Amino acid sequence: MAPAPRSLNGRVVAITGGGRGIGLAIARTLVAKGARVAVGDLDRASAEQAASDLGAGALGLFLDVTDHAGFTGFLDEVEQRLGPLDVLVNNAGIMAVTPLVEESGASIARQLDINLHAVIHGTQEAMRRMVPRRTGHIVNVASLAGRSGFPMLATYCATKHGVVGLSEAVRVELRGTGVDVSVVMPGIVRTELATGLGQARGVKTVTPEAVAADVVAALEVPRFDVFVPRSGGALVQLGAIMPRRLRERIARLIHADQALLQTDRAARAGYEARAAGSAPAADEERSSTAA
Ligand SMILES: NC(=O)c1ccc[n+]([C@@H]2O[C@H](COP(=O)([O-])OP(=O)(O)OC[C@H]3O[C@@H](n4cnc5c(N)ncnc54)[C@H](O)[C@@H]3O)[C@@H](O)[C@H]2O)c1
Repeated sequence: MAPAPRSLNGRVVAITGGGRGIGLAIARTLVAKGARVAVGDLDRASAEQAASDLGAGALGLFLDVTDHAGFTGFLDEVEQRLGPLDVLVNNAGIMAVTPLVEESGASIARQLDINLHAVIHGTQEAMRRMVPRRTGHIVNVASLAGRSGFPMLATYCATKHGVVGLSEAVRVELRGTGVDVSVVMPGIVRTELATGLGQARGVKTVTPEAVAADVVAALEVPRFDVFVPRSGGALVQLGAIMPRRLRERIARLIHADQALLQTDRAARAGYEARAAGSAPAADEERSSTAA
C-alpha cells in the first residue's frame, strides 16, 4: 500500500537562493501547503520582496551561502523565529557557460564555493540539527548536469556531480535516523540562469513551478531521485545500460553534444555578470589569502 502523504502544514522550511527562480517557486508552493517558510538570498531586496509577496509570516533574510558562519547564523535565526528546522532546501546555485580552456580561476572557484562547498556545509548543518530530533528532510538541488556531461558546462557539471555524490553518501549515513534526503535533477528550467542556452532537438524546457511541484511531492512521499521532467530519469537510466559509443551516437543525432555550443552568450551577459558577483565571502577569503 502506498504510504499516506506527510502533511507540510506548519513545517519549518529554509530555502537558499529563494529570492527568485526555482527557490521562489518552491517557497510559493510550500506556503500554499501551510508551511512556514524562510527564504535566504544574496540579493537582500529580492528575499525581502519574496517574503512580503509570500505572506503567511514568511521570512526574507540576507544569506551568502559561501560565508559558512553566516549560513549557520541564518539557520539559527530561522529556528529562533519559526521553530526547529524540518526542511532545508539547498537551492542557491550559479552557472557559467564557457569552454573550460577559457574559464577563469575565479569562475571555477565561485561555482565550487556556491554550488558544492556551501551545499556540503548546509547538509552538515541540517544533519546536526535534525538527527538528534530524529526527523527532517534535506533537499539538494543538483541538475541533469549532475548525471551527464555537457560541453561549455564542465565546471558546473563537476559541481552538480559532486552534489549528487554527496547526497548519495549522506542517504546511506542517514539510514535509520528518521531524516530523509532528496536530490533534485531538473533539465532546462525557464529562469534567468538558463537565458540564451542552446537546446537539443526534442528537449522540452520546464517551468520553475513544475520543479516546485515535484519537490513538494518528494517531501510528502519521500523519494530520493527527483528528475524534472521524469523523462530525464528514464534517459539517464537508459544511457547507463547502453554501450558508450551507442549513447554518444544518439546524442550526436539529436545534437545534444552541439546544442550548448550554440548558446547565445551575448544574451547571457546580464545573468553572467550577476553570477560573477555571487560569492562575496569566498572571494574575500581568496583575496586575503593571496595577499
Ligand atoms: N534554471 C535551470 O535550467 C536549472 C536546471 C537545473 C538545475 N538548476 C539549479 O537550480 C538552482 C536554482 O537555479 P535558478 O534557475 O532558480 O537560478 P536563479 O539565478 O534564477 O536563482 C538563483 C538564486 O540564488 C541566489 N544566489 C546566488 N549566489 C548566492 C549566494 N552566494 N548565497 C545565497 N544566494 C545566492 C541568487 O541571488 C538567485 O536569487 C541552482 O542550484 C541551479 O544550478 C537550474
